[in-house]
Amino acid sequence: MSATKRVLSGIQPSGTLHLGNYFGMMKPAIELQEENECFYFIADYHALTQTPDPALLRERSLNVAIDFLACGLDPEKTTLFRQSDIPQVPALTWVLSCLTPVGLLERCHSYKDKVARGIAPNHGLFTYPVLMAADILMYGSHLVPVGKDQKQHLEVTRDLAIRFNNAYGETLVVPDAMIRDEVAVVPGIDGQKMSKSYDNTVEIFGPEKKIRKKIMKIVTDSTPMEEPKDPDTCNVFAIYKLMANEAEIAAMRERYTAGGMGYGHAKQALFEKYLETFAAFRQRRDELEQNLDEVEAILERGAERAREVAEGYLNAVKKATGLR
Ligand code: ADP
Ligand code: TRP
Repeated sequence: MSATKRVLSGIQPSGTLHLGNYFGMMKPAIELQEENECFYFIADYHALTQTPDPALLRERSLNVAIDFLACGLDPEKTTLFRQSDIPQVPALTWVLSCLTPVGLLERCHSYKDKVARGIAPNHGLFTYPVLMAADILMYGSHLVPVGKDQKQHLEVTRDLAIRFNNAYGETLVVPDAMIRDEVAVVPGIDGQKMSKSYDNTVEIFGPEKKIRKKIMKIVTDSTPMEEPKDPDTCNVFAIYKLMANEAEIAAMRERYTAGGMGYGHAKQALFEKYLETFAAFRQRRDELEQNLDEVEAILERGAERAREVAEGYLNAVKKATGLR
């Protein structure tokens, strides 16, 4: 029997790709394309819950596609598409909505956090997890690589798939989340979770000078240069570890504990490691920027393939529920 699984994930086009997104979601997602059948999409319907400027939404959506391709997504192996190119998704969202207890959505942390931060919630924001469940269940996905913050949304998805199957018979695949514990939360330059909402990100693309400036701003304690430092409580070291190999990590740990190394040196080493890690991606991105028609064509081919699979599941759902 083949070990190939259908893997699906999505990313909102709501900002610029940062180290948290890359290590938490994009890198593990791209690695999976070698052994599995992957479907990755740009969650532009989800981004609409924040009512972005239309031109900005369009630009950011295309940017996510370019980012994925620059970081190694192979469109021959992986289906890359825009969520809004799949008309079956809102249809399945409605069917799932009719099985979703309001209390289940009221308990979602991501929704509660946004409300607590003073955002006046719209209905789309409230039902965000149902749309996400439809994204996943639409293609019979087995595995969903996401960051830890999406764990609860995956639980909602599983719950809805089970509710559907109990109500109407085995129709939907109950998916598993794939969360890499070692990179569960990438810290930002202020030590909180790296997130575009906290203005603490280090981007993967963009001017080198700006990136260096951000790295130099990473918050550290005030241990003087000559004294030994604790690598395990240092944000610079936490980010360095994501990019360095074992020998480099051990050497850097040694420099911390020996004393005599200032945080400025650690930051410079991190900046150099960053450039080494992302140089090829950065160059590939510049090339893709010059070939936007190619990127559009990849998205259109991806959407065609995704619609084929989606249509099959939607037909089964409609039949099971008595809609057809
Ligand atoms: P942001 O928090 O910047 O708004 P998103 O919520 O759009 O990022 O997240 C996109 C993907 O990247 C999700 O799968 C999410 O779990 C992952 N991700 C985002 N930030 C981090 C982080 N700091 N560490 C690990 N994964 C992250
Ligand atoms: N909610 C996810 C995030 O903010 C994005 C997303 C939308 C998603 N639909 C999805 C992720 C389906 C995985 C599967 O990161």
